[in-house]
Amino acid sequence: MSLRNRLLYLTALCGICFSCANATVYGPVISADFPDPAILVTSNVTYAYATNSGNINIQVATSYDNGTTWTLLNGVDALPDVGPWATVNLTWAPDVIDRGDGTFVMYYAAESPSQNTHCVGAATSANPLGPYTPQTQPIACQTAGGGAIDPAGFQDVDGQRYIVYKVDGSSLGGGGSCGNANGEYSTPIMLQMMEADALTPTGDPVQILDRTSQDGPLIEAPVLILHNGTYVLTYSSNCYNTVLYDIAYATAPSVSGPYTRASSPLLVTGDDGLTAPGGATPTPDGTFMVFHATVNFSPLTRYMYTATISWNGTTMSV
Ligand SMILES: *[C@@H]1O[C@H](CO)[C@@H](O)[C@H](O)[C@H]1NC(C)=O
Ligand SMILES: *[C@@H]1O[C@H](CO)[C@@H](O)[C@H](O)[C@H]1NC(C)=O
Ligand SMILES: *[C@@H]1O[C@H](CO)[C@@H](O)[C@H](O)[C@H]1NC(C)=O
Ligand SMILES: *[C@@H]1O[C@H](CO)[C@@H](O)[C@H](O)[C@H]1NC(C)=O
Ligand SMILES: *[C@@H]1O[C@H](CO)[C@@H](O)[C@H](O)[C@H]1NC(C)=O
Repeated sequence: MSLRNRLLYLTALCGICFSCANATVYGPVISADFPDPAILVTSNVTYAYATNSGNINIQVATSYDNGTTWTLLNGVDALPDVGPWATVNLTWAPDVIDRGDGTFVMYYAAESPSQNTHCVGAATSANPLGPYTPQTQPIACQTAGGGAIDPAGFQDVDGQRYIVYKVDGSSLGGGGSCGNANGEYSTPIMLQMMEADALTPTGDPVQILDRTSQDGPLIEAPVLILHNGTYVLTYSSNCYNTVLYDIAYATAPSVSGPYTRASSPLLVTGDDGLTAPGGATPTPDGTFMVFHATVNFSPLTRYMYTATISWNGTTMSV
């Protein structure tokens, strides 16, 4: 976002932001359960997509002022048909890319009855709002590792397409927080090269990060961007239903790594009055992001917030 637009945000929103002395976090901008949000910027409209709610597999919201004010489209399901491999109501953490040929591609995670776990799949639409038409087969299941969730698309500077996703080892059911606080299972973040259609995987996925003891039970919600020659992987660590959930990032000189964790997370509980910030998606240009924070742990309710991102070299701040 340009400096001018950043200033527009400041003047427009200083009244409702949490820390007006350094106003870069805004919200809640959607005061409804809208977890794991993704953002898609088009020439006229900015879209946000979120995890299922009730009968809606993929929630969608729109902004006509560059992400400042948002409208949740009640009753609109961007993905009414989850595909023959999947079941409804467990559709998580979508991401949408503009393929540049009039087609938008949605990546999503859904429960696969045949694998008895979550898999990630893709669906296409000529309209960012959908309805998206699912592919008949998922892209990745990682069944032995606990399933595949939290996909996000990425296009490298040479045009090569990828997705990143989490192998959901924490779903395998060890003890403690999120079923993996003893660290029995790994929760690797995988990088999968895709064909030009952004739908068909090519080659084997490669691991680019995994949890360590400092992450508690897991890392998840990866999103990859390229900022000024540096590959930046944002992710969340710790269990989503605790105050330890956060937004962190790691950087690399090449797309496949090695990724080096930043010395401190981007957002943790207490920052800007937030609780358990997570599920962030930066825009591909690294200037702005959407994320959720918890407003109620029981029933778990996560509202959407936004932030403008500043950079000092490879150090991010909001
Ligand atoms: C964007 O808005 C302009 C002006 O209203 C309109 O001419 C154009 O068709 C719109 N573009 C899209 C992609 O909707
Ligand atoms: C999906 O969730 C909605 C709302 O909770 C419920 O009414 C519906 O029966 C569920 N569908 C299935 C197939 O479980
Ligand atoms: C949104 O950003 C674009 C590009 O920076 C700018 O041209 C436009 O005026 C902005 N719209 C609003 C409502 O701020
Ligand atoms: C981009 O990175 C180069 C060094 O790799 C640095 O000199 C330059 O200031 C950076 N530009 C921005 C806008 O951060
Ligand atoms: C940017 O980072 C450098 C190196 O860590 C530091 O010396 C400098 O003070 C930072 N600048 C700002 C504006 O924070």
